[in-house]
Amino acid sequence: MSMIVFRYLHFLGITFWIGTAVAVAFAASAPTPWESGIAQALRRVTLRVTTPSMLFAFVGGFGMLIPEFTEVYAKQGWMHAKLALLLALAGATGLLSGKLRRWAEGQDVQGTTFARLAGVISTLAVLIVTLAVLRPF
Ligand code: HEM
Repeated sequence: MSMIVFRYLHFLGITFWIGTAVAVAFAASAPTPWESGIAQALRRVTLRVTTPSMLFAFVGGFGMLIPEFTEVYAKQGWMHAKLALLLALAGATGLLSGKLRRWAEGQDVQGTTFARLAGVISTLAVLIVTLAVLRPF
């Protein structure tokens, strides 16, 4: 696949990954009983949109990273920082998905947990985009 295809997948994936993860986490933070069906609907969004989009972002990102890693990116501090923050972002997305699954199954999950996840995911996304665009070190 050419670089432009990887770049295209990368940005399409990032858009829907971060967009739906933040929207779902904010919606889930509202005090709503799980019997309303909202928990199940939000879980469907993470399964059908957020997770596949994360995969696209990874395929696109690693498709650009791997061929030029030793020549270019291994020497760039911003990329190492970006990769470290990405692990945290993927972890926070997994946590969101797990908490939604528990809530959708009727277990008690605090609304503040989702509000915190929305904040963490948004902050990590801002930091990653800042690193990727400004490349400060
Ligand atoms: C999934 C793992 C990821 C990998 C392996 C990865 C890797 C890369 C690579 C190799 C580039 C090309 C840099 C260049 O043009 O030299 C890139 C660009 C970019 N990435 Fe990622 N990335 C990942 C996830 C993300 C995420 C989650 C975000 C946003 C939250 C992000 C935001 C960006 C941006 C904004 C650019 C464009 C930078 C520019 O052209 O100015 N990346 N990424």
